[in-house]
Amino acid sequence: MPTSTAAPTRYTATAMALHWLLALALVGIFAVGLYMTSLPFSPARLKLYNWHKWAGVSILALSALRLLWRLTHRPPALPAAVQAAMPRWQQLAHNATHHLLYLLFFAVPLIGWAYSSAAGFPIVFLGLVPLPDFVPVNADLAELIKPWHEISAYALAALVVLHVAAALKHHFIDRDGLLARMLPGRG
Ligand code: HEM
Ligand code: HEM
Repeated sequence: MPTSTAAPTRYTATAMALHWLLALALVGIFAVGLYMTSLPFSPARLKLYNWHKWAGVSILALSALRLLWRLTHRPPALPAAVQAAMPRWQQLAHNATHHLLYLLFFAVPLIGWAYSSAAGFPIVFLGLVPLPDFVPVNADLAELIKPWHEISAYALAALVVLHVAAALKHHFIDRDGLLARMLPGRG
């Protein structure tokens, strides 16, 4: 059957579902992170910290699933016409952004987890399942790690801004149909 042997031109439904679910989750957890750290010490702040950590661990697990899916399902190659229209640096930036995003999907939550452990606040997922500490409790180590959670989260946000700007440029300026590959129900 030609449909089964033809190279895919769109992302799979699973890849799209993971892309949009995680996009929403990442925007949400970033906003909660900024908001909770601005609050004065209070039960509400403590509650948000826990939600932030549980959401972060869930994002980490979903990212592992996503990476597994990505490694076992090749994404569609860029259409020949799009590739021809993109200078070499843009093709490199396209691949580099996606690779760096994947790296940060793991680095940001793992650094957050390490900070939490070092600061002596082990994670109890949903208040039910204690998760292991993979760094020792150590105040100096915690202070060392702390800024890196923030820095890596801001790096992720900056890459997302770049990524979305590029997606919108392809859609509205180049009008090359690249965005439709990541949208359900179009073609
Ligand atoms: C992709 C997932 C995550 C994102 C995008 C994210 C993002 C953020 C952001 C933007 C902040 C505010 C930084 C600041 O202004 O100080 C923050 C703070 C924090 N995050 Fe995350 N986070 C994630 C996952 C996690 C995880 C998994 C944990 C722990 C298990 C965690 C623990 C913390 C803690 C303890 C703080 C407060 C640090 C402080 O007191 O300054 N985060 N996070
Ligand atoms: C937090 C927000 C987002 C994150 C973390 C994110 C991340 C990613 C990643 C990692 C990929 C590569 C997929 C793969 O090959 O496995 C991707 C692809 C893509 N994303 Fe996003 N994305 C976000 C938001 C958006 C938004 C808002 C748009 C549209 C305006 C968008 C449009 C696309 C498109 C069109 C592709 C496919 C590019 C291609 O055809 O090669 N993304 N995204």
